[in-house]
Amino acid sequence: MARTTAYVCSSCGTDSAKWHGRCPGCGEWNTLVEERIAPVQAGPRGGGAGAGAAGGSRRAAALKPVRLADVEAPAVKRLVTGIGELDRVLGGGIVPGSLVLIGGAPGIGKSTITGGALGNLAAAGRDVLYVSGEESAAQVKLRAQRLGPDALRAPIVAETDLDAVIATLEAERPDVCVVDSVQTLYASGLTGASGSVGQVREVAGRLMRVAKERDVAILLVGHVTKDGALAGPRVLEHLVDCVLQFEGERERTYRTLRALKNRFGSTNEVGVFEMREEGLVEVADASRRFVDEATRAPGSVVLCAMEGSRPLLVEVQALVAPSGLEQPRRVANGVDRNRLALVLAVLSRHARLQLGSADVFVSVAGGVRVEEPGADLAIALAVASASRGVPLGHGERPLAAFGEIGLTGELRYVAHPERRVAEAGKFGLSPVMSPSDSVRTIKAALQRALAGGRSESAAAAAA
Ligand SMILES: Nc1ncnc2c1ncn2[C@@H]1O[C@H](COP(=O)(O)OP(=O)(O)OP(=O)(O)O)[C@@H](O)[C@H]1O
Ligand SMILES: [Mg+2]
Repeated sequence: MARTTAYVCSSCGTDSAKWHGRCPGCGEWNTLVEERIAPVQAGPRGGGAGAGAAGGSRRAAALKPVRLADVEAPAVKRLVTGIGELDRVLGGGIVPGSLVLIGGAPGIGKSTITGGALGNLAAAGRDVLYVSGEESAAQVKLRAQRLGPDALRAPIVAETDLDAVIATLEAERPDVCVVDSVQTLYASGLTGASGSVGQVREVAGRLMRVAKERDVAILLVGHVTKDGALAGPRVLEHLVDCVLQFEGERERTYRTLRALKNRFGSTNEVGVFEMREEGLVEVADASRRFVDEATRAPGSVVLCAMEGSRPLLVEVQALVAPSGLEQPRRVANGVDRNRLALVLAVLSRHARLQLGSADVFVSVAGGVRVEEPGADLAIALAVASASRGVPLGHGERPLAAFGEIGLTGELRYVAHPERRVAEAGKFGLSPVMSPSDSVRTIKAALQRALAGGRSESAAAAAA
């Protein structure tokens, strides 16, 4: 019997009749993935495309190129989910017929946000469908009851068989469909367990075909692996139009949603949500929350970050404590570990702040993650303030700062300084410490910040 599936290396493309732990082609471990073989079409070979019209290759009619200006493109009307922060991250709503992947750790709120969005779309008169492979219809109903009456409007099928799901999509042709989750659907042609790389790829590929042919926008919910990558292959990210990542810690209430890839919008946008009884609530004035919660204790600095096109103020906290360990701890929450290591090295080399025998903890309050290099200066100031035990700031207000730190101890400019300063000004946080003509090095920044902090604490002690 002819083979219908093959094991293909996802790294080098070698195909093999049976599974190997190690690819016989490139020697990589664990890269062989079961794939369906497309039936070979009879007829002349269409191989060697490209390199000249070699004799024997198939003849095809020449195509007539069209100037881009003359291409007909109807204006797409986006489907607005009614969840402002989600729409913003998507670039203004869901594009009809697009495939969106929403990834996030277990329990972060993927089903909650997609359920809420579907409910809003249904209330706005759109045809929607919720495909649940993970929970029974009754379980989904329980969540929808919490979210409110609109969420109960969305029709649901609880199914894991891909063929049944596709048949339903063909019959119902909804405007928007949520598939929760892509890892639970099962394509019967492949033997791999659902959630395996081959299965996920097949499921996503076939759903994409339906999305494009029938103009059904599909939101795929995906799990992330332990190391934070979207589970399943990276090919899934290539396949879909938009990849959204839900981040945050389950124990904390704040969650952020960011676009890692977006064919129809910027990937700079970030939405901030709060998990409440009635579901995920958008936090439109996130800066105010974080500034109000900021302490003026030693080790606290407000970072003027840019989350996409939007300035966001977050509190960076540091704790420096004597360590009993041979290798002192370096713990980073919400900032990159390597970035913290770099900042500590620059502090020790260029600002004479020796932390070799101290544990250093740095955390962004509220469970927010900041990825931009503009966070360096705030991290450095928070660590220095914690290490010296001197609070930084002006009067009742904490110090606000932003700027990148270079390896030679210099401060580097970052994008949108005026918008960051303006956002800080809104909350009375001025002046802002940032790279400027008078503050060009980390040493100068520290001297200025610590001198300001110390003179104030001395004045307070004298009073
Ligand atoms: N009554 C409630 N009040 C407040 N928050 C709740 C309540 N019930 C559930 N939650 C929150 O909702 C979260 C679960 O949300 P949801 O089911 O949308 O997550 P998920 O990302 O779909 O998870 P999974 O990966 O398991 O499918 C819980 O972790 C909890 O924080
Ligand atoms: Mg879920």
